[in-house]
Amino acid sequence: MIPRPNRAGIIAALDTGSPQRAEAWAEALSPHVGCLKLGLEYFVANGPAAVARIAARAPVFLDLKFHDIPNTVAGAVRSALALRPAMLTIHAAGGPAMVEAARRAAEEAGPDRPAILAVTVLTSTDAATLATTGVSGGPAQQVLRLARLTLESGADGLVLSPREVPMIRAAHGAAPLLVVPGIRPRGSDPGDQSRIATPEETADAGADWLVIGRPITAAPDPAAAAAAIARSLRP
Ligand code: C5P
Repeated sequence: MIPRPNRAGIIAALDTGSPQRAEAWAEALSPHVGCLKLGLEYFVANGPAAVARIAARAPVFLDLKFHDIPNTVAGAVRSALALRPAMLTIHAAGGPAMVEAARRAAEEAGPDRPAILAVTVLTSTDAATLATTGVSGGPAQQVLRLARLTLESGADGLVLSPREVPMIRAAHGAAPLLVVPGIRPRGSDPGDQSRIATPEETADAGADWLVIGRPITAAPDPAAAAAAIARSLRP
């Protein structure tokens, strides 16, 4: 599994459907970040071979958020192993048997297996939206419930907002790998993110990896932006 950074490491989110753009970002950013995140937009447009080309440059976080019956998720994880991702996401809401199936399938890759990360409550989901799906009690309570369930079922870590990191560290200690989007360096445009924090605040709260997209990729010089964030995180 990918080693845990001393202080939080940077995952650059390559949110594009363009393989040329993703490969240019990968080349420019790989000296400055620990991992590159590819999501559904990229994967659906370009397929597994295009993921493998990025993985040849830096460790890849394959963020496809699997959520299906356990047997199907196990098959999807097994198929993903051929791309040698460092991290994979599944939806915590799939339940314990699905999480266990994902972990068992990942273990088939041996010691170099990907970390299985569970997405608890999407940051775009507020209390009112959760209530319409039959979940009362609000996002924090649901994140806690799903975190316990998935970590007990074999997930290596969680994807969560900066705001939830202290609560999860208090409940589960140092062991879970915490991967945190919604990061904005001071003075940068929040865009559509609302529950944001700076890289330094998020690292101090106990995050292991910071997922950073537009503050890097929309900067005039993405490599310089990534290098500046990396400098701000040095102990
Ligand atoms: O550009 P920005 O820094 O907002 O990108 C954040 C990345 O993290 C995007 O790829 C987004 O899809 C992802 N993400 C998120 N919130 C989550 C899960 C993933 O912003 N809860």
